[in-house]
Amino acid sequence: KYLREDSMSEPCRDLLSSLPSEEDWVAASLCLYQGFWFPSRLLSGVLACQNHFQAHASDILLVSNPKSGTTWLKAILFALLNRAKYSTFDSQRRHPLLTQNPHDLVPFLELQLYHEQENPDLAAFESPRLFATHLPYSSLPQSVGDSKCKLVYLCRNPKDTFISLWHFTNKLRPEGKGQIPLPQCLDKYCQGVSEYGPYWDHVLGYHKASSEMPEKVLFMMYEEMKEDPRVHVRRLADFLGCPFSEEELRDGAVEGILRMCSFDILSTMEVNKSGKWSTGYQNQWFFRRGEVGDWVNYMSAEMGERIDGVMEEKLHGSGLKL
Ligand code: A3P
Repeated sequence: KYLREDSMSEPCRDLLSSLPSEEDWVAASLCLYQGFWFPSRLLSGVLACQNHFQAHASDILLVSNPKSGTTWLKAILFALLNRAKYSTFDSQRRHPLLTQNPHDLVPFLELQLYHEQENPDLAAFESPRLFATHLPYSSLPQSVGDSKCKLVYLCRNPKDTFISLWHFTNKLRPEGKGQIPLPQCLDKYCQGVSEYGPYWDHVLGYHKASSEMPEKVLFMMYEEMKEDPRVHVRRLADFLGCPFSEEELRDGAVEGILRMCSFDILSTMEVNKSGKWSTGYQNQWFFRRGEVGDWVNYMSAEMGERIDGVMEEKLHGSGLKL
């Protein structure tokens, strides 16, 4: 179901055939829509989401480029928002994160909900509804901008994001075909050709929105989260209007959430070791190393400098350094 383009509606197929296209890293098709490269198989989900999603003022959308640490922040946001209902100290171990993958608890709009159905019924989601998306800022459904809903954007260093994406796409290769040549992927990445790319335009859209509307868009960095997670979880709670009370802080609520959402705990949960996504991806693919600077193990200094050079040029004047 996930990979089928032939289930697309006729208007979507017509649009797709009119758009520029490119091969992605595993030779599936990408299409250039509204200035970004979308997987062609997802175009119907993107359109359905743009046409039908009605944001509520209390909604929270987690946005990221693929491989920026979305799974981690999904878990943190879920634990944070549901902390009154599910304690991370529950001795009965009833916390949903112990038995469900973060992607099932916090679904993506265009690549889960609106991919599976043209206009899904979202009535079962309790307020505040928590969803995720990889959509660029300029392609968000109109109602997101019109409502008071909040956006949390997670950004990650492009070199680590690139290497994480390369590893992930290798999993999608037919067995026995080996790894995709890294230099070939690097060329495409530096040309902006990757899922939801160009990477820099994706980041810049949200960075600008966050500077202009800090009460609506929170811009977070994976590396900063790794370095000082306590500070950033509290920042997140403040931004979302659910700050930790003195009592919670004294009782270690922040630490409890971080422990439960840590790489070591999440990656060893049975559901995350052996479960599968509705998309067919294996849950374990979302937990690889979770380290900062892992790119040095796969790329030469020159390759790293090439990404740095592109970012410097593209981010010039934005005030953002990655
Ligand atoms: P690596 O491939 O560098 O290890 P996404 O969730 O956006 O698909 O991003 C996946 C990346 O986040 C992977 O990076 C993965 O290992 C890392 N990740 C997953 N869970 C994490 C956690 N709990 N803490 C830190 N990083 C995590």
